[in-house]
Formats: sequence, structure tokens, C-alpha cells
Amino acid sequence: MAPTRRVALITGAAGDIGQATAQALAADGWALALTDHPSAETALAASAGDAWTATFDVTDDGATRRAIGECASALGVPTAVFVNAGVQGPFTRIDRYPLEAARRVLDVNVLGAYTTLAVAGAAMVDAGRTGSIVCSASMAGVGGAPNMSAYSASKAAVIGLVKSAAKDLAPAGIRVNAVSPAFIGPGAMWDNQVAMQAAADSPYYADEPATVATQMLGMIPLRRYGSPAEVAAVVAFLLSDAASYVTGTNVEIAGGSV
Ligand SMILES: NC(=O)c1ccc[n+]([C@@H]2O[C@H](COP(=O)([O-])OP(=O)(O)OC[C@H]3O[C@@H](n4cnc5c(N)ncnc54)[C@H](O)[C@@H]3O)[C@@H](O)[C@H]2O)c1
Repeated sequence: MAPTRRVALITGAAGDIGQATAQALAADGWALALTDHPSAETALAASAGDAWTATFDVTDDGATRRAIGECASALGVPTAVFVNAGVQGPFTRIDRYPLEAARRVLDVNVLGAYTTLAVAGAAMVDAGRTGSIVCSASMAGVGGAPNMSAYSASKAAVIGLVKSAAKDLAPAGIRVNAVSPAFIGPGAMWDNQVAMQAAADSPYYADEPATVATQMLGMIPLRRYGSPAEVAAVVAFLLSDAASYVTGTNVEIAGGSV
């Protein structure tokens, strides 16, 4: 009988952390299923090399089910899953925060993560396979970031989701963990955060992006932002058998910030 393939699936795979994690998992010998939103199809194709790819919106449960089913048919049931797609939303005080935008952030970051985790977990359980799932949370969900109420709420929810799902899936031998990066750069989210905090007209940050960058890095004991590769290394560890007794936890990748 042919050996069962080790298949890893990533959502948000065209983004900075997704791409770095794809590289780390490829180096660990995983066959990759790289997925992202349809609007990121070109970026995904450009970064995916010869990996299997699919595009779907994680808020569309039917499309998520179809894509994970197609991955199982094409490559095998994914037994390592990085639930990573996410959006930041606007940067605005909560008393001015547009509720429609809050709904979208919560829909993508909470229900999108919930759906991917639930569908991928069900695929493993139904196939009788053990595995590991890691979700992208954030230090914003641990400490609460100013001007980011919807994002902070969404990432706190992801940490709760992981702790509950870890208990539900442990009897099937499936581990579930979260990672919480703080400031990761360079990249789209770092540039966006610096610019948006500067424009937020808040007492916490200056209105000059360069000054905001200095203020943010001053909050980090290691005095620098982390790299996507430093997040990817932790995700790859949690997805590997080296982390076989680690489940239901949130690993902070935050340079010592709290
Ligand atoms: N970069 C940071 O500083 C940082 C810090 C903490 C947490 N995070 C989290 O890490 C994850 C990845 O961040 P990143 O820095 O790589 O961001 P990124 O913007 O580079 O990548 C996010 C990816 O998610 C995809 N995506 C967004 N909405 C989607 C949807 N509805 N369906 C499918 N895909 C969708 C985007 O197309 C994009 O490719 C996110 O969940 C983010 O919240 C990032």
C-alpha cells in the first residue's frame, strides 16, 4: 500500500505570514495546499510555485467545504491546517467604529476561522486521521489594541475557539493551538498599522507614521518587530510531531511584549 501523504493546508497563503509558513512547511516535507480569497488569486499563483492551490472566501462555508474536499481528492486529507486568513478592519475609536466594518472583521476572523477549523477537523475525524490545527490570533486579542476594537475582539474569540476546539478534538488525536504575533514586519500589515494608527487621531500614537513606528517598537522589549519567518517557525513546530503534547494553548510571538 502506498504511504499516506502528509498534506498541509494554509488559508491566507498569499499573505506575508502565509507565504513564510508555506516555505517552512515545504522545507519540513509537507505537500502543500495553498488557499486564499478569490481577490488574491494572482498573488497566490505568483507565490505558490507548483503547489496545489484553491481560492475561496472563508466566510462562505459551502466554498470552504468544497475546497477542503477537493484538496482531499487531489492530494489527500490535510492533517496540518494553518487557519490564517484575516483582516484588520478600520482603525477608529469604538464610539466612532462603523458597525458594518466590525461585522465584516468578526465574520472573516471569527466565523471564517471557526468554519475552516470545523470543516478541516471534520475531514480528519471522518477519515480517521490524527493531526494538528493552528489558528492565527494576535496580541491584540490578548491585551486589546487601541482603535482596533473589532480586530481585538475577533482575535480574543479565536483564542477561545482554539481552547474549546482542542478539548472537542483531543479524543480524535487532533491538536489545536493558536499563535499570537505582535508587530510583524516588514509587510502589508505593518505598513497599514503604522499609517492607520497615525491617522486615527488618538492619544496613544503620534500623527506621523515614522514616529508611530518608533512608538510601537518602543513597546517591544526586544526593540524590533518580528519577521514572518519567526512566526512560521513556531507554526511549523506546532503542526509537527515535535509538539505532540501541546494542545489548547496560545503561543505569544511578541518579542516580550504583554
Ligand atoms: N502581520 C502582523 O503584524 C500580524 C500580527 C498579529 C496577527 N496577525 C494575523 O496573522 C494572519 C496573517 O497576517 P499577514 O500579516 O500575513 O496579513 P496579510 O494581509 O498579508 O495576509 C492575510 C491574508 O488573508 C487573506 N484573506 C482576507 N480575508 C479573507 C477571506 N475572507 N477569505 C479568504 N482569505 C482571506 C488575504 O487575501 C491575505 O492574503 C492574519 O490572521 C492576521 O490577523 C498578523
